[in-house]
Amino acid sequence: MAGELKVDLGERTYKIHCGSGLLPEAGSLLKKLDLAAPCLVVSNAIVAGHYWPTLEQSLKAAGFQPHLALVPEGEEAKTLKVAAELYDAALAAGIERGAAIMALGGGVVGDVAGFVAATWLRGVPFIQIPTTILAQVDASVGGKVAVNHPRGKNLIGAFYQPAAVIADLATLATLPPREVRAGLAEVIKYGVIMDAGFFTYLEEHLEGALNREEGVLETIVLRSCALKAEIVARDERESDLRAILNFGHTIGHAVEAATDFAAYRHGEAVAMGMVAAARLAVRRGMFSEEETSRLVRLLQRASLPVDLPAVDPAAFRAALGHDKKVRQGQLRMVLPERLGRVQVTPVSLEEIMAVIC
Ligand code: NAD
Ligand code: GLY
Repeated sequence: MAGELKVDLGERTYKIHCGSGLLPEAGSLLKKLDLAAPCLVVSNAIVAGHYWPTLEQSLKAAGFQPHLALVPEGEEAKTLKVAAELYDAALAAGIERGAAIMALGGGVVGDVAGFVAATWLRGVPFIQIPTTILAQVDASVGGKVAVNHPRGKNLIGAFYQPAAVIADLATLATLPPREVRAGLAEVIKYGVIMDAGFFTYLEEHLEGALNREEGVLETIVLRSCALKAEIVARDERESDLRAILNFGHTIGHAVEAATDFAAYRHGEAVAMGMVAAARLAVRRGMFSEEETSRLVRLLQRASLPVDLPAVDPAAFRAALGHDKKVRQGQLRMVLPERLGRVQVTPVSLEEIMAVIC
């Protein structure tokens, strides 16, 4: 089974290939892009342990000269220090203009590899080979690449689109269950912000997704990517529409920051943030209790947290102040109007504190 989508960005248009068993086909898919033979594949020990032999063989069979560079596990990989090590690896691998840097892994690997691809020689072709649900439905599409600054996540980065995305659903077989659930939070987000029919599909097929049924995973990844591709094509640099992708992220990010990014996976924090945003919208009279309950039930069925933890209100306020969505001191949040439709609107800190305390 395989599907294909395009992210329509003029001469930077690229394809998302999605299907089960695509990794062995990666070399032949990428050969069509007219890339130079040397390439640098960035991964970590866990993912490379599972999938590097297959990818290496596929790339070699297509005439590439692949080199592997391993980065540390987790957010520690998203630093300027690791990026500097990858520049050295790119130099050693002979990555000149026209030679690609590829990311084999989750959102962490994609973000740091993409940052290096965007900056090495002022930009070399970048290929995303995402291996988590979160990366397949969100991080690998749309061109946000970044490393972290000690003061905050993703503060040093760029918009740099990949030349192709290859999402092999078979790689999700080895993903830890907690990562599957966290990724599904971002999938549910698409239903709430843009597609009520997709939300209903998720209500009907959640168990299939949790059990990693191939047909369900394919529908989920393709539908999520199609929705994201539509947004990115219309507002690549988040001047307006793209902000709706941040539904659940304002409060979710504050929870992550207030708990030192150690307690929750990103998707878990987004799940809590979506429910808090829905409750805020209910208080404003713009979203229904019934739809909030549907959202809560679906997240709970995915074993995702829906209630915020007891965090220090001062730490929470400080974290909200650092939110990238603050414009001229005014916090803006994505609030649901009904399932499938949201709006970006100013909110006061007091309104937020009222739903979190
Ligand atoms: P991750 O990259 O840390 O991967 C999660 C865990 O799963 C890691 O331990 C990883 O080694 C392991 N793993 C990955 N694929 C596996 C597989 N197939 N089998 C077994 N183990 C596997 O986490 P993530 O949730 O994919 O990504 C989170 C990161 O993505 C954050 O840094 C976040 O800022 C970033 N992000 C970026 C964007 C964007 O648009 N660029 C969007 C959302 C999130
Ligand atoms: N993950 C949010 C975005 O890509 O804009």
